[in-house]
Amino acid sequence: MPMRLGVNIDHVATLRNARGGTHPDPLEAARTALRAGADGITLHLREDRRHIRDDDLARFMAALTAPINLELAATEEMVRIAIAARPHAVCIVPEKRAEVTTEGGLDVAGQAEALRPMVASLSAAGIRVSMFIDPDPVQLRASAEIGAAVVELHTGAYAEGRAGELGRLRAAATLTATLGLECHAGHGLTFRNVGPVAALPEIMELNIGHFLIGEAVFEGLAAVVTRMKQIIGAARA
Ligand code: PXP
Repeated sequence: MPMRLGVNIDHVATLRNARGGTHPDPLEAARTALRAGADGITLHLREDRRHIRDDDLARFMAALTAPINLELAATEEMVRIAIAARPHAVCIVPEKRAEVTTEGGLDVAGQAEALRPMVASLSAAGIRVSMFIDPDPVQLRASAEIGAAVVELHTGAYAEGRAGELGRLRAAATLTATLGLECHAGHGLTFRNVGPVAALPEIMELNIGHFLIGEAVFEGLAAVVTRMKQIIGAARA
């Protein structure tokens, strides 16, 4: 099965917001990434709106036909926004105001009762709902049990080179098939470390942001997206 690449364009908005203007426009970045072979666009509307803002989401929904994956925290406000916007997919992520990025997976098992109605409302609106979790069987089973269609495995510990993490990802990906969950993965992936994750056959989609936007400074966004797709395709073959 081919693997989809979702390009996370949050950090184009980070750069734009550094000067308070409109350039560089994350929507133009999304169009460029899609032309270069990205299969979808991921954006994270954080509660503090530090990068993507509400008007960005509205512009993306109006302008793009490619699948949009909206990352958000498990709050009533965010669920309301998602149901009004109706992106293709929503990925529920843990969010702490002080963190620089999403530091670990969501504790689905510990918050199952709060998450279950949110998953139900989003799913009823026709949105595919994903849980961003560590590759932990307890969290996988809890995600299936609350009705999520998809899990996205947090690859941060693997990307940091921690021992045993590729094995944990492999075991988790295998378990998704048994549980009837679609499997995605992301966080901290680069040209150098993406191959072994891309080779796991159950994983259908990778979401990659910071490295691609950073590397685009040197090579251009279209070139890095095309190269990432090639590396993923080679690992898959
Ligand atoms: N997937 C999810 C759910 C995320 O929260 C993030 C980071 O925003 C990513 C993927 C992409 O991580 P990175 O920017 O490190 O590639």
